[in-house]
Amino acid sequence: MTCAVLALPSCGGVASPEVRAEAPEPATELEGRGRALFTGPAACSACHGGAGGGTMLGPALQGLAARWSAETLAEYLADPAGYAARHPEIEHRRMPQPAVTDAADLAALAAWTLRLMGA
Ligand code: HEC
Repeated sequence: MTCAVLALPSCGGVASPEVRAEAPEPATELEGRGRALFTGPAACSACHGGAGGGTMLGPALQGLAARWSAETLAEYLADPAGYAARHPEIEHRRMPQPAVTDAADLAALAAWTLRLMGA
């Protein structure tokens, strides 16, 4: 197996006990669609991990629900660099522009990301 997901304990990564290794089940159809995008075409899981626990390439998303809403996440994901420029508290260095651009897809991604954050 190739260890693309460095946070996996089986890859020798560091799994902190606070980090949930398994993603929750989607509670709505929108979240289910967001999950499919997160782990599929949008490839968010490549950097943030399938459960949002983070990898060497991207920070953990778990525990960040207090600083985001579905609306602000959809806005951020539509244009991470632009959003960060307007919100200096959000760091912008390596978060790529998502390949997903459709507004409905971004709303689904935002709903699922918020769920992974712990909302
Ligand atoms: C190539 C790796 C990579 C991919 C792919 C990626 N991200 Fe990120 N993401 C990052 C990094 C690194 C950061 C930290 C900020 C920065 O460096 O720009 C980040 C930051 C974030 C943040 C802000 C967290 C905070 O509050 O500080 C969110 C939300 C996020 N990503 C969600 C996503 C979603 C959803 C996707 C899929 C559409 C995605 N990311 C795809 C690497 C990635």
